[in-house]
Parts: sequence; C-alpha cells; structure tokens
Amino acid sequence: MILAFDTSCDDTSVALLKNKNYVNLISSQNDIHGKFGGIMPEYAARSHTETIAYLTKEALEKLNASMSDIEYIATTVGPGLLPSLLVGVSFAKALAYSYSLPIIPINHIEGHIFAPFFGKKLEFPFMALVVSGGHTHLFLIEGIGRYKIIAKTLDDAVGEAFDKVARILDLGYPGGPIIDKLSKTGESDRFNIPKGLGGKKNLNFSFSGTKTAVKNLVNNHSNLSTTDKIDIAASFQKSSIDVLWEKTKDACRENGVNKIAVSGGVSANSYLREMFATECKKEGFELFLPRREMTTDNALMIANIAQFKKSRATYDYFSVEANPRLKIVNYNR
Ligand code: KG4
Ligand code: ZN
Repeated sequence: MILAFDTSCDDTSVALLKNKNYVNLISSQNDIHGKFGGIMPEYAARSHTETIAYLTKEALEKLNASMSDIEYIATTVGPGLLPSLLVGVSFAKALAYSYSLPIIPINHIEGHIFAPFFGKKLEFPFMALVVSGGHTHLFLIEGIGRYKIIAKTLDDAVGEAFDKVARILDLGYPGGPIIDKLSKTGESDRFNIPKGLGGKKNLNFSFSGTKTAVKNLVNNHSNLSTTDKIDIAASFQKSSIDVLWEKTKDACRENGVNKIAVSGGVSANSYLREMFATECKKEGFELFLPRREMTTDNALMIANIAQFKKSRATYDYFSVEANPRLKIVNYNR
C-alpha cells in the first residue's frame, strides 16, 4: 500500500493506493485565494499545514487501513511553490522516519504525465501534452524515465492564460473551470482571438498574445454585456485549445507516434476532451485522458507513478528535498 502526498501548489491532496483499491482526497484552497484572484504562497502553505494530517487520517479510515498497512510513502518534491512543497515533503519525511518506511520522491509533472494511464496498461511511445497552471509542454515518452521535451510555451502556460483572461473579464477564480462552463452557452466564433504561434512549423506554444488580444478587446469596448463577455471567453477557449491540438498533431506526425496522453488541470476542459476525441478518431490516433479527479492536482497521480519508481525508494530521508524548479529527466536519443 502506497501513501502519497501532493502539496505542490494550492490543493492539499493525500491518496492511498493498493492494487485496484484507492482513495484520493483533495482539499481545495479556492476560497482562500479567490479573494486575491491568484495564489498567495504563504496562505497556501499555512492551509496545507492545517489540513494534511486530517486528510491523512481520513484517507486511512476510508480504506479501513492503519499506518502499519503502509509499505511506501510517496511525495511530490517539485516543481511547485517552495512554501507549499515544504509542507508535503516535511510531513512525508516525518511519517516515514516515525514508521521506518521507505520514501519515493516524485516529480509532480511525471505524476501528471502518467495519470491518463491509471488502471490501464502503459503503452509506449506516446506524446504527452501537459497543460496546467504552470506548464504547457509536449513530451515524447518512450518509457519510464525516458522523456524528451518536444515543445513548450515560450511565455504563459495555457492554464495561466485561462486564469488571467477570467480576471480580465471579471469572471472569478480559478478561471479555467469558469470559462469552461460559461463557454458552453457562448459563440466561440464571434471574436477573432489569434492563436499563439498557430499555423507555424515551430511546435512551441505562446499564450501571452492571446491573453493580450482579450485585454485589448475589453479596453476598446466599454459596457460589455454579460453575453459579450461569455462570447469572448468562448472565443478565447476555442483559439487556445485548437492550437494545442494543432501542435500535438504535428508533434505526433513528426515523431511517428500515434498515442496521445493529455494531462494537467486544463485536461479537465470539456471542449478539449470532446475536440481531441473527435480529431484523434479522424487521424487514427489513440487518446488517453485522465479521469476528472486526476486532471487537476491530486495525490493519486503521485501514488500511480510511484508504483513504477519503487527502485528509487530510500531510507536516506535527508536526501529527499523540496525543489521548486525540479526538471523532468531529459535524455538524448
Ligand atoms: O494541474 P493543476 O491543478 O495545477 C498546476 O500544476 O498548475 O492545473 C491548474 C490549472 C489552472 O490554471 C486552472 O484554471 C486550470 O488548470 N483548469 C482548467 C479547467 N480546470 C482547471 N482550465 C480549463 N478548463 C477547465 N475545466
Ligand atoms: Zn499540476
């Protein structure tokens, strides 16, 4: 049985995994950060500290388990916000020390990448599109630990753009789920929001221009109605998600890959899920999407990848450290 923690950003999450049995508890801090329109790192860390022990107790109770059933502890060690990461890492180390358990340090992005395969057989190679608040990356995944960066955003991450656009349109926080919901009733072809680096051979992404286009629209039109705002949100969503598909498709063709795994908070987006499914069918690509509870930050994705990283388990607790800028292993073929 693996006990896993993720406190990389603003969600406190604890998971337990044993074979097909699992519990995945996520405590959102949206109420705290919503007032500020963005994440306040110190408040995030305080809230993790207040919550993590209770969540752990609840997770054990839910699976009728006790600490003596735990074989491994896994924790996200980076990347993320340092004050947030420190809470999960310190808690995991303290528990591991107290119960003499091995600890498996996990890269949060590696957790996202493999989340679509939870409960399924891993199939290599695949193209991983990781779309979250901090990442917009395409990785060629050829095995566990065999990752190659194919493309990344040159400026904002796509989730960050969703959050900023929601703020510009005064729609609330976090922007992704709100824009997703509102867009369902909006006209996505009413406003021309340019696709960042769309139609280019280059596979990298750019979302700061997309966000600025929305800003300019708002600045140039006083008295925008609610319908106008919803249509702008829908147009922004379509433009951003369409460019994600364009680049992912090109990356697959260029690398001779026909499997796509999309992950990270933005993979919860309903338009993305439907559109990728339709387009993958047309292209003859196989699509892997995470179940919704494994899209945004969660500890089950950490427990999931930890199953394949048991060889990295250590009793040298001092070697397990939080690293806000932790890179995913890159290798050259
Ligand atoms: O993976 P995640 O929980 O945290 C990071 O590692 O960054 O991703 C959070 C991001 C936020 O920017 C949020 O607005 C976005 O994912 N997001 C969405 C949706 N749900 C969350 N974006 C678009 N549509 C959604 N339904
Ligand atoms: Zn994440």
